This record gives sequence, C-alpha cells and structure tokens, in this order.
Amino acid sequence: MADARPFHWEYIPEPPPPEAFRIEGGRPLQGTVHVSGAKNAALKLLAAACLTGERCRFENVPEIEDVRVMAEVLRDLGVVVDHPSPGVYEVAAGDVDWLFVPLEAAAKMRASFILLGPLLARFGRVIISNPGGDRIGRRPVNLHVDAMRALGAEVEYRNGYYYASAPGRLRGGEVRFPQITVMGTENAMLAATLALGHTVIRPAAQEPEIDDLITFLCKMGADVERTYPDTIEVNGTKRLRGASHSVVPDRIETGTFLVAAAVTGGRVTLENAACDHVAALIDIFGRVGVPVACGKRTIEVDATGLRPGDLRPIDIETSPYPGLATDVQPPTCVLLTQASGVSRVHEAVFEDRIEWLAELRKLGAKVDIQDAHHASIHGPAKLHGAEATIGDLRAGASLILAALAADGGSLIHGAHHVQRGYENIDAKFQQLGARITRSADTA
Ligand code: EPU
Repeated sequence: MADARPFHWEYIPEPPPPEAFRIEGGRPLQGTVHVSGAKNAALKLLAAACLTGERCRFENVPEIEDVRVMAEVLRDLGVVVDHPSPGVYEVAAGDVDWLFVPLEAAAKMRASFILLGPLLARFGRVIISNPGGDRIGRRPVNLHVDAMRALGAEVEYRNGYYYASAPGRLRGGEVRFPQITVMGTENAMLAATLALGHTVIRPAAQEPEIDDLITFLCKMGADVERTYPDTIEVNGTKRLRGASHSVVPDRIETGTFLVAAAVTGGRVTLENAACDHVAALIDIFGRVGVPVACGKRTIEVDATGLRPGDLRPIDIETSPYPGLATDVQPPTCVLLTQASGVSRVHEAVFEDRIEWLAELRKLGAKVDIQDAHHASIHGPAKLHGAEATIGDLRAGASLILAALAADGGSLIHGAHHVQRGYENIDAKFQQLGARITRSADTA
C-alpha cells in the first residue's frame, strides 16, 4: 500500500467570503452566557445516526459551520438530514445510495473521516477521502485505518482515497492503539457496534464527548461500555434503532469564555456548563489566582477584584483528557500573558499548534517560541489593539480574547475559521458587553 500523503496541495476548497472581527478592547465582560452543544460531540453523533435506517433526533446541536458541512456530506450520501428548528437536527439514513465521501467534503473538514467506521460497519464498504482540516500540523489517519483492519476490514489507499471493505461483516477484535486518539477511538467504537462479537479498545480516549457518544449508542440499542477509564468494550449487535439525544455542553467554548472573563477583569456566569469537564483548566485558574466557582450546571469567574500583576505564572502541558485539552491551550496562553513572570507552554498533542503565538505577539504579548512544541510567555504584558490573522479555529477565538483584553481597536482577519466551531461568538460576546462586530473583510 502506498503511504498516505497530505493532499491539500492538490485540492483547495473555494474560500468563504472573507470576514473580519473588529474589536474595541479594554472593557470588562459582565453577565451571563449560555454554552452551546459541543462541536466535537455533535459531529460524531450525526455520523453515528448512519448506523441505523431509523430516524434519530438531536437537540442542543451547535449552529456552526462544521455541523452544516457534516449535514451536507450526509445529504450527498443520500441520508435525509432535517433541521426543523435551531439546534435540532433529525437524521434518517434509510437510503444511503452513495458510499463515497469525496475529497471536497474531506478537505473542508477532517471530522468527515468519522464516517469510515459507521458506513463500513453497516454497508460493508466505503470509499473515503484522506481528510484535511485545521492547519495544526500533520494530521494522519493511520490509527483509524489500523483499527478497521483489527476489526477484519480490508483497507487500501490509492490516489488520495481509502477503499475499505468488510466482506460479510466486521468481526469484533482487539483494537490496541499505540497512542491515544480521540476520533480513532470513536471510529473503532462506532464500527464495533455492528461487528460480529466482542471488541476491546485500549487505550481508549476519555474525552467527555466520547462518553456522550456511548450514551447515544446505548439508546440506539448498542452494547457499549467504558469498563475502565482507558478501556471501551463493545458487544456487536445486528441492528440498531433510532434514538433521541441532547448534545453535551461544549467544554472548549466553556474554557474560552472563562478566559475571556479573566483577561478582561470581568465577572461572567456560564450556563449549561459542566464544571467537571473543565477540571484541568479550573485547576490552572486556581494556580494562576483567578477565582472560579462551580454550580450544578453553571460556572462563575469573578476577576473584578484582581489588579494588574496579581496573577502568578505557571507551566502548562497539554495532554489527552482528563489533562489540559490542546484545544484550550491557545486561550490559556492569552491568560498567561497577564501573569507576572515567565510561564512555559508545552503543546504535547499536536505539531505546530504553537505557531499562532506569533500573531498574539502583534497585540503586545511577549512570547518566545522555542520549537514546534514549546514556548515561553513573559508577563504581565500590556496588550494593545492591532491587526492580526486567524490561522485556525482555536487560535482564532484566542486572538479575539486578546483583542477584548487589549487597549484600543483590533482588526482580526479570517473570521470564517471561528465560525466553524463557535456558535454566534460575536453575539455572545456582545451580550457580555464586548464591542465586537463581524463584517466583510475589505482589507
Ligand atoms: N494521530 C495519528 N494518527 C491517527 C490519528 C491521530 O498519528 O490516525 C495523532 C495526531 O496527529 C495527534 C494525536 O494523534 O498528534 C492525537 O490526535 P487525535 O486523533 O486525538 O485528534 P482528533 O481525533 O483528530 C480531536 C478533535 C480535535 C482535538 C483533538 C485532541 C474532533 C473532530 N477533533 O481530533 O479538535 O484537538 O481530538 O483532543 O473531535 C478542534 O475542535 O479545534 C479540534 C482540533
């Protein structure tokens, strides 16, 4: 088999119309904000609905670009995807007549690769493009492919496409990952629900979105259980049924708003927030010295009593859940710009997720980038308005945070990256008193 190679050079999707955020910073955020459903749960739940021909219904689905892309990808396969009201999606995969996920879909969104497991398990074959996604380093899918092979599939790679087949039915087996992978775990689990026999997945990723997916699969009649923190076991069944589910709150959006409150010296209550899902970040707030209070489904940050220089520098390292999520590394870095002293950052999950700090510098942050995984942040920095460009989703939200904390006006290009994963982010910040608008980027 030829090696899977990055292929984005061959196909670049039509760019969306350029938009920019204009932000007047320096105003403490105040008020209450509702956290949306989790992007990284919703996308997998929509894919899981393809495991049955019966109708599935999802509530609390975030109104974001990635969900719209996933809905389009499913419709192209012949799946009925209804969107009867905001936040509600219904999926009926009775007639799937096109077992082909094209390059156009995959290049727009890496998460389209999550269709490999469900389509292969239910229909016995699929041709799926090598995915693209965020520009945060090499994003291989070898572990997904190995997992399918461990379940008895034959997978060949030719000209940018994986040709997967499982003559007869997938067979349960042992899926052993050499490293932790979120979507790899999910793909293996989804495939195993319709396989013949018992599957053990180890080490299984422990992200809350995976447990949300397990809950939904069980409602569909699947026999899936997390038997140890790092082990998921599945007894395959022949058929699954339709089910309804409300998507778990987005812990990355939660983290983004927690930092927003802290760096603007504000006081914000998050509703529909799961405190235990952001425990690693709350621990960081404690070490840095920002007061946070957890309620049953609320979290409050009160930074109004903090003076410049009050925050302590710390060292952080990202890791799979329950560690500090790589997706909150960028917002956390914005927080560390306000700590008095040197904080060190180790991005251990992805390559090149440190690069965005060069843009943060434009707003006055003092950052040394040592290599693709390490940086140090010297604080407290007096952030000032500037022009900067968003390169990926989480870095984008973090540049907004820095601009909200900065004195003066900022123009942040590349707003479409943020629309991929944050529901109405500008409207939510406006509701908290921020001066932020999104408009056509004419610069
Ligand atoms: N990896 C491989 N081979 C594979 C799969 C992963 O080498 O086949 C490597 C990756 O390159 C990376 C590490 O394993 O270095 C972990 O990647 P993982 O597979 O866990 O990431 P993912 O499933 O592709 C999901 C989220 C990401 C989030 C990561 C880590 C979705 C759609 N995406 O990606 O979310 O950063 O887990 O938590 O669930 C985001 O929302 O902005 C985002 C990038």
